[in-house]
Amino acid sequence: MIIGFIGFGKVSQNILNLLKSDDIRFITSLENRSAKTIERIKESDIEILDTFKDVAVHSDILISANSPSSALDIAKKYGKYSKGIYLDLNNISPKTTLEIDRYVANLVDGAIIGKIDFPKPVLYISGEMSDRLLFLNDYMITKKISDNVGDAAILKLLRSCYTKTVSAVLIESSEIAKSHDLEDEFFEILSLTEGDEFKEKSISRINNTLNNSKRKSEELNEIIDYFDENELVMVKAALKKLNQ
Ligand SMILES: NC(=O)c1ccc[n+]([C@@H]2O[C@H](COP(=O)([O-])OP(=O)(O)OC[C@H]3O[C@@H](n4cnc5c(N)ncnc54)[C@H](OP(=O)(O)O)[C@@H]3O)[C@@H](O)[C@H]2O)c1
Repeated sequence: MIIGFIGFGKVSQNILNLLKSDDIRFITSLENRSAKTIERIKESDIEILDTFKDVAVHSDILISANSPSSALDIAKKYGKYSKGIYLDLNNISPKTTLEIDRYVANLVDGAIIGKIDFPKPVLYISGEMSDRLLFLNDYMITKKISDNVGDAAILKLLRSCYTKTVSAVLIESSEIAKSHDLEDEFFEILSLTEGDEFKEKSISRINNTLNNSKRKSEELNEIIDYFDENELVMVKAALKKLNQ
């Protein structure tokens, strides 16, 4: 089996390491890539073809893991050459996923839950062809959601609804606790019901949100845009908090 990558960043490199096996050949291209990516590719055990078109033509599974803003253009450009499965792993909205489906014959919509460099990342997949990727379970936890392309993206958006809103509430309540000089006690009493790692996880979540507030705001706007038939009182409040 041949697995090709369009985009060879953290996601692709980790997937290659997870899937390493004598039965799988990995291919990609250096075409127009940055020095950082070229170095990453040269450090990895992967065959280099001249162009991404060649990669698309020769892959049984073509993985698109580049950036949310290039995912659609890449599907338009290379989707037509892919005769196997086209697995899109970019953090894109369900609308973009459905648009990509117009340019790709056998699209599987993938969502990596958690960071890819977590010890055990979980891959959720949807689309009629996703059964053909269930063999990945031999290498990483892989769960099929449904036959509908777009469901993995919707689920990912729903997860963001929850995590980003909770982060905004955490920021607000811990700020108030701090102003009363009760921050440690605030986390301590919450840990009694939320578990021992609550403080550590909350602080990491707060810092991640504050350090990436522009991107988090964009993601909240994307949620509001996609679920525009729903009221989303909490998500809109979280956006207001982040914009402050
Ligand atoms: N990191 C995670 O834990 C995680 C989890 C879930 C989903 N995702 C999604 O997975 C995708 C990849 O994430 P990542 O963390 O691997 O990103 P990354 O480390 O920034 O790497 C992106 C890679 O894509 C390449 N690329 C960008 N535009 C390209 C194009 N037009 N043609 C070919 N290659 C292109 C980049 O090459 P250059 O350096 O040459 O530009 C780079 O090698 C993103 O859409 C992200 O949202 C990431």
